[in-house]
Amino acid sequence: MVGERSKQAFERAQRVLVGGVNSPVRAFRAVGGTPYFADHGEGPYLYDIDGHRYIDYLMSWGPLIWGHAHPNIVRAIAETAARGTSFGVPTELETEMAEEIVELVPSVEKVRMVSSGTEATMSAIRLARAATGRTAIVKCIGCYHGHADSFLVKAGSGVAALGLPDSPGVPASVAERTLTVPYNDADAMEKLFADRGDEIAAVILEPVAGNMGCVLPRPGYLEAVREITRRHGALLIFDEVITGFRVGLGGAQARFGVLPDLTTFGKVIGAGLPVGAYGGRRDLMALVAPEGPVYQAGTLSGNPLAMAAGLTSLRMLKRAAAEGAYERLESYGRRLVEAFCRLASNYGLPATGHAIGGMFGLFFHDGPIVDFETAKACDQALYADFFREMLAEGVAFAPAQLESGFMSMVHGEAEIEKTIEAMERVFPRIANRRR
Ligand SMILES: Cc1ncc(COP(=O)(O)O)c(C=O)c1O
Repeated sequence: MVGERSKQAFERAQRVLVGGVNSPVRAFRAVGGTPYFADHGEGPYLYDIDGHRYIDYLMSWGPLIWGHAHPNIVRAIAETAARGTSFGVPTELETEMAEEIVELVPSVEKVRMVSSGTEATMSAIRLARAATGRTAIVKCIGCYHGHADSFLVKAGSGVAALGLPDSPGVPASVAERTLTVPYNDADAMEKLFADRGDEIAAVILEPVAGNMGCVLPRPGYLEAVREITRRHGALLIFDEVITGFRVGLGGAQARFGVLPDLTTFGKVIGAGLPVGAYGGRRDLMALVAPEGPVYQAGTLSGNPLAMAAGLTSLRMLKRAAAEGAYERLESYGRRLVEAFCRLASNYGLPATGHAIGGMFGLFFHDGPIVDFETAKACDQALYADFFREMLAEGVAFAPAQLESGFMSMVHGEAEIEKTIEAMERVFPRIANRRR
């Protein structure tokens, strides 16, 4: 239940901030439209300004794999800040960070740090266009790659149809260079390439889709996209802004054994500070300035605070992974999905879900959910009811059904059990209102 102080804070914010927020999803429009305001966080818990405590499965939309205010990360930031917050000349921290990424992510030989996921994806497609001399890119319907003009494109009526701008302000001339196909549909990808392969610089893909809920790649899908892109001389970009260091230590590419040409990162590599990165094959990265002609720069890129936080997080992840931490996260996610499906079925509601590494998705839908069409068909009103009831029980899931849930390394048995108990109280209430 959103408290009075949060409601007042939101009213005040709306006078001076667009929609009261600095990123549209924070306005909670999909679930009723009034967000709780954060006061502070501690481990798996977020405390709002009304003093409510939530078991947090939003985790700042993914970055907080170590939960809120992890002491090691806070200390690393504080100690680094005390020595200066930005220098405009290189620091050794940036090299150490890149060394960790290169060591952990199988396809990445060289890295460029940036300040957000959007910066990473837009730079990666610039590089892909420069490397191939082609201008079209392919994205999947329902995948999100940040808010650069090229990505704000929805599906046309057919796979080869020209994209239409999803947002006013995106020039049609840019949008039409973005071609779209359904996620998980290798035949559609094959056909698009058969028609227009010689125009396509790259396919950009979330290897596990995280922005239509959590949707898993069908067995063989990633391999098929890899083969098609290679055969047509296009690059494959895995957007691992969500999946990087989250579905496993080496990201989705290590988990599925499919290696892209370029990879984009964000979220977990910054541990809650503004960071992104892109990297890949050495010969491709050599095209980026100053080694090559593809211009891309940033005053705060490789910022020491962000590097210190990210580096601390990655090093802790390496140790945790060796002790089976990702398997534990996935087992927790599975338990939430199983409880959700069992309770829904007990009360005659449709439900399905997925869990992989530290991400999961709960859908009010009979399933299977394989792409945006199927994801979109889930019962959004029911989810909004479920979300509000769970919030009242002290559990914060994503404030929209078509978003992923995030588990952290500091969620434990106690939080999982409390969440399932809360679901057991909530399902009869939402099912009753359904009747
Ligand atoms: C898969 C994916 N790519 C890119 C982005 C953009 O990252 P940022 O919000 O840091 O610009 C997001 C953000 O949610 C994302 O989920």
